[in-house]
Amino acid sequence: MPTELLTVRDLHAYYGKSHVLQGVSLTVRPGEVVGLLGRNGVGKTTTLKAIMGLITRRGQVVFKSQEVSVLPAHQIPRLGIGYVPQGRHIFPEFTVWENLMVGLVTEKTAPPERLAAIFRNFPVLGERLKQLGGTLSGGEQQMLAIARAAISQPALILMDEPSEGLSPLTRGIVLERIKTIQASGVGILLVEQNVKLALATCQRVYFMEKGVVRQEVEAAELRRDKELVARYLGVEV
Ligand SMILES: Nc1ncnc2c1ncn2[C@@H]1O[C@H](COP(=O)(O)OP(=O)(O)O)[C@@H](O)[C@H]1O
Ligand SMILES: [Mg+2]
Repeated sequence: MPTELLTVRDLHAYYGKSHVLQGVSLTVRPGEVVGLLGRNGVGKTTTLKAIMGLITRRGQVVFKSQEVSVLPAHQIPRLGIGYVPQGRHIFPEFTVWENLMVGLVTEKTAPPERLAAIFRNFPVLGERLKQLGGTLSGGEQQMLAIARAAISQPALILMDEPSEGLSPLTRGIVLERIKTIQASGVGILLVEQNVKLALATCQRVYFMEKGVVRQEVEAAELRRDKELVARYLGVEV
């Protein structure tokens, strides 16, 4: 029995003739937060899009022993993969409630106990169900994007820079929510520019460089050896 929830092997992806992903390989296990780090433009977002089938791709994507890379995009969330896109992409003209309902992929409605769990985890959303998404603060919109991905109880969530543009306080709340979702057994592949947040959240980290995964490192090792981070990202921690 494979212990991996998600296995990506030698994934290639293209924008037109531009060969952006040139062999990305990584794994995520159940209940694990795995970081995908790298400088701007190396292909982190494209990796998540390729897993979700949102871009032409080649290579293997295996989720719960099923080959996903042959499936069209609309079938992939139904397998139990949630996606929090970069920039949140909530619907500004929809209410909070309507935005949440967009996250349901196989059901027409969510059972009351699941909704209660979502509102326990994201109380601000429960208080604003009738408010239009576009009138929420950046942090609230991010909570909404995460809750929308979580509402179908996926086994895996791909999150693309959930802390982008948030205040340190809101970033801390997002981090806590990620940990709560992880504690329920969900695997998370986390693209993150904020290295401190990544190190505080992840068990393992992959460093990407220009279309490939260059190295896999245990987060504990990175916390001990800050020079490794500097070498891959060119930033001091
Ligand atoms: N829609 C697109 N059309 C053409 N090129 C793109 C598009 N989106 C991204 N790229 C290019 O693909 C590369 C990887 O982009 P991206 O995956 O967004 O990087 P990251 O998320 O790591 O910052 C970059 O060189 C970027 O310019
Ligand atoms: Mg990106």
